[in-house]
Order: sequence, then C-alpha cells, then structure tokens
Amino acid sequence: MKTEIVVLTEDNIDENIIEKAGKIIKEGGLVAFPTETVYGLGGDGLNPDSSRKIYAAKGRPSDNPLIVHISTWDAIYKITKDIPKEARLLADAFWPGPLTMIFKKSDAVPYETTGGLETVAVRMPSNKIARAFIKASGEYVAAPSANLSGRPSPTLAKYVCEDMDGRIEMIIDGGASDVGLESTIIDLTDNKPVILRPGYVTQKMLEEALKKNVEWDRAIIDADCKQAPKAPGMKYRHYAPKGTLSIVEGDTAKVIKMINEFTDKARKEGKKVGVIATDETKDLYKADVVKSVGKRSSESDMAHHLFRVLREFDDDNTDVMFSESFEGNGINQAVMNRLLKAAGHQIIKV
Ligand code: TXA
Ligand code: MG
Repeated sequence: MKTEIVVLTEDNIDENIIEKAGKIIKEGGLVAFPTETVYGLGGDGLNPDSSRKIYAAKGRPSDNPLIVHISTWDAIYKITKDIPKEARLLADAFWPGPLTMIFKKSDAVPYETTGGLETVAVRMPSNKIARAFIKASGEYVAAPSANLSGRPSPTLAKYVCEDMDGRIEMIIDGGASDVGLESTIIDLTDNKPVILRPGYVTQKMLEEALKKNVEWDRAIIDADCKQAPKAPGMKYRHYAPKGTLSIVEGDTAKVIKMINEFTDKARKEGKKVGVIATDETKDLYKADVVKSVGKRSSESDMAHHLFRVLREFDDDNTDVMFSESFEGNGINQAVMNRLLKAAGHQIIKV
C-alpha cells in the first residue's frame, strides 16, 4: 500500500485534506494523526474490521483495547452507558486534553475495539487537527499510539513513517507532539475512580477536580504486585531498547560519578555506552553518546523529549545505556513509569 503523507499546522488546517482523511476512515481505512500527547493510528471505532486492521498494522495483541477519540461531549452518549457524575467534572476540567476515561460500553462499540471488554476508553484530544479529523471521520476514531508494538510512542511524524509507511493509507504530519507522553487513564466504572496509567494530568489535579481521593491501580506502582494491571496494555513491556538500560538513582554528584565508572568498565569490554542526562548534567559524562531530555527544572521538558531520545538511542546502536532518575510529583510520575518499563525495572541506587 502507498501511504500518502500530508503536512498540516494547527493554525492552517486545509479542509480538503481533512475531508479526504475522514473519507478514508469512513471507508474502513487507517490514518495516523497528531494529538497533543503522541501520534495516533486512527480507524473507525464502530467498525470491527477497522479495529482488526489497526491491530494488524501495529502488530499488537488484540486483547489490548483501543481508545475511542471524540471531538464533542455529546458524542459520548452513543458509545457509553451509566455515565457517572465524575465524568462531567473531569471533562469540564481536562477535556479537550490528555485525559482518557473508562466507561461501561454501549452496544454500538464492537468488542474488536475494546479487546473483548465490556468497557470503553474515551478521550477528547485538544489538538485542532485531531479534532477536525475526528469530526470529518464521523466522530468515533479508535486510535492507539501510532508505533509498531514494542517501540516508543511517536512524537514526530517521521517516527510514524518509520513504523507505518506502507501499512496505512495516510499520515498527517502536524509537527511535534506538545506533551510527548500518552494520556492519563482513569477508570470510572467502579465506585472509586482509579488511575490506570499516569500522564500529564496528575493524581493531584484529578483529586482537585473531583474533590475526592483518586487511587492508583496497584499493578502500576508496585513492580512486585501479582495482580494484572487493569489497563491491559500496561502489562506489556512497552519498549525494550536494543541495548540494556539501567536507571541510576541517588544524589546527582554520586550518580554522575557512578555512571562514569560504569562507562569506563563497559568501554574496556568494547561496548558502546549511552547516557540519558539533563541539560544541567550532560557535559559531565564520558559516554560515547550522551542525550539530554531537557532541563531538570522543567518536568514538561522531560516528558516532551523522552520518547524521542529513546528512539534515537535505537538508531545509535548503543550496547549499554544508563539513565538518570527523574522522580517527582507531577508529570514526572508518568516519565518514570515509561522509563522504568523501558529499563525492565532495573534501578541501581547509589
Ligand atoms: O495519549 C493517548 O492516550 C494516545 C493518543 C493517540 O490518544 N493513545 C494511546 O493509546 O496511548 P494506546 O492504545 O497506545 O494505549 C491505550 C491504553 C492501553 O494500555 C490499553 O490497555 C488501555 O489504554 N485501555 C484501553 N481501553 C481500555 C479499557 N476499556 N479498560 C482498561 N484499559 C483500557
Ligand atoms: Mg501505545
């Protein structure tokens, strides 16, 4: 299949291109599109064949449900049942934006889209191109991140091309994703709202909007938890770098010293070494390849750059990688969640 690549900007959206993209979706095809979190791989969420095609294009296990993207609040009624009052509070606070809510599904949503579950994940993105595209597509765009299964989510169209060229009808290039990490997922199908995946919208922000406690799915925060995570996708090792990745945690000066010692040792063994650092520390490392995820003082910087840096390391063929730790209370929880998964939870404390 020949993949058409089109370029749009949020402040200059060509309606003809959007119409063409919407027509592809309505006819059962697939279009990758920009959102404020990461690029999505869109298909008609109400068409079982489209969902099957999405799994095939990604090489993704079909028990891993898709998020349905909408562009207006009213679209929610057709695909959900028993909308709790929390949903409206969260929508008022965070939609359009990087929050996904889980509801009971209606019969309109095929099991192919929900990975066989009775629930459906719904998100209203804020990116203007995404919203115009969803509208033109008939309002229900099922979309996982537009990467091949097992690779970091794409934050630039060139990474979507790397993974999806020849597999889908169209890629809409809308520039770099603002947030850079996937949406926060909150489950509203139980009495207590539960975070299934950390993202830009933090626990504190959710609690402030709901004026009540929001819990975490234990399987996410506790690596030893025997329970399966409630978001099926969280059980998969998201991304395994080609080389081995370890996180080194502790006082900054000690971390730098240890990473440099590990670097010397690995290089004596003939290995190519990479380091994930910050703007503040990047000049202090001796590794072959040192990449910064931005300023440590800016949590949003780190979220914005992490997936790009991980992809670049794959291209550099580093054998061994070390990363500083980026723990914190805001979006850093999401950054660390993704980094820990990439490192297979290997942490060295110094
Ligand atoms: O920011 C995002 O959410 C991006 C953009 C494209 O919107 N999408 C995204 O989709 O990250 P994906 O498919 O890569 O991740 C969706 C996650 C998976 O972990 C999946 O298991 C979970 O959402 N999920 C989807 N539907 C669910 C449901 N009904 N119950 C529990 N978890 C669900
Ligand atoms: Mg994904």
